[in-house]
Amino acid sequence: MKTIASLSVALLVATATCELAAPSTGTSSLREEAQKKDILIGSGAINPDYLNDTRFAAVLAEQFNSLSPENEMKWVFLNPAEGQYNWQTIDRLVDFAEHHDMVVKGHGLISSCCNPDYLLKITDAEASRTAMKAHFEAVMHRYHGKVDRWDVVTEVLETMGGGLQHNYFYNVTGPDYIEDAFRIARAADPSAKLFINENQVEAIPSKRQELYDLVSGLVAKGVPIDGVALQMHITEVAVVPGVITEMVDSYEALGLEVAIAELDVHTLNNTLETEIYGAVIAEALSAGITDISFWGFTDKHAYTWVPGAKPLMFDENYKAKTEFYATHKALSGFIDTCQ
Ligand code: G3I
Repeated sequence: MKTIASLSVALLVATATCELAAPSTGTSSLREEAQKKDILIGSGAINPDYLNDTRFAAVLAEQFNSLSPENEMKWVFLNPAEGQYNWQTIDRLVDFAEHHDMVVKGHGLISSCCNPDYLLKITDAEASRTAMKAHFEAVMHRYHGKVDRWDVVTEVLETMGGGLQHNYFYNVTGPDYIEDAFRIARAADPSAKLFINENQVEAIPSKRQELYDLVSGLVAKGVPIDGVALQMHITEVAVVPGVITEMVDSYEALGLEVAIAELDVHTLNNTLETEIYGAVIAEALSAGITDISFWGFTDKHAYTWVPGAKPLMFDENYKAKTEFYATHKALSGFIDTCQ
């Protein structure tokens, strides 16, 4: 018979080795509800080291059918020096996803941050394009058939709007670096879906128009782009009802898909946070969005700019919060009238 002593030793061992099970939500998983409706429900911001915690791994595989890395695919972290690649981090994520029948989204091919010194030293446009081609081919060839969609460019516009960020690529190649990136990505993996990833467009009408003008311009030039990934990092203010639907309709008219890529809600008001989760998921589904990802799922690893905010659906101990149940209600309650 297990004695108090042996039980406490077992508890200590379990705690030490993270063998603790995640608390039950008491209901079906988001993944089960999503799969009934051919929805991809995913978590981004996955650092492979987090998988060392078996509860993290258990909740990730149970609740989601899609994942994407946090920083490990960003150029400086994946390819810090010419010809040198840190494949092991992404390989571990891809293996985990394959083992749990999840799809993987590539995040961070190029963005304004996280570029290696060997690239930043290149000031010739053609040489910079050649470096981009070499990098995209190395990464996309390795994960061909394993990573089915990519954020090709992330955050090309100024955060609060007002034009393109004058980042390394813009300064060396000019605004055409965006078109170059999509053409290079398409050639590197013709089977993968290619997204432009942007923030704040749900909150700032002028930036929303800027992104539409940029993307419709790319489409008009025949640039191979398949979709728009809306980050949806929501801070303190709910999204105006109808804005998500308006964006989906406007991009679908261009033949493009809209995905939610990095949903989280930054506020100290948990009631507001819960309402926003429910409202965004409900409108996204009714607008026809079938690919929804959160920027993580446990406050244990949240990235926030609001001190004290708990922006995610599970707490630090993987206990489902009201945000989870609001998301679950919107997902399980969604009836796809198009089917
Ligand atoms: O790896 C270095 C480490 O060597 C160094 O000691 C440490 C101290 O400065 O920094 C580490 O790099 C940090 C990196 O995350 C890896 O942990 C960077 O400082 C830090 O700025 C970086 O933050 C990431 C941020 O993007 C910027 O790349 C966040 O973890 C990540 O959650 C956040 O994610 C972005 C998406 O990619 C795009 N959309 C917005 C989203 C949230 O901002």
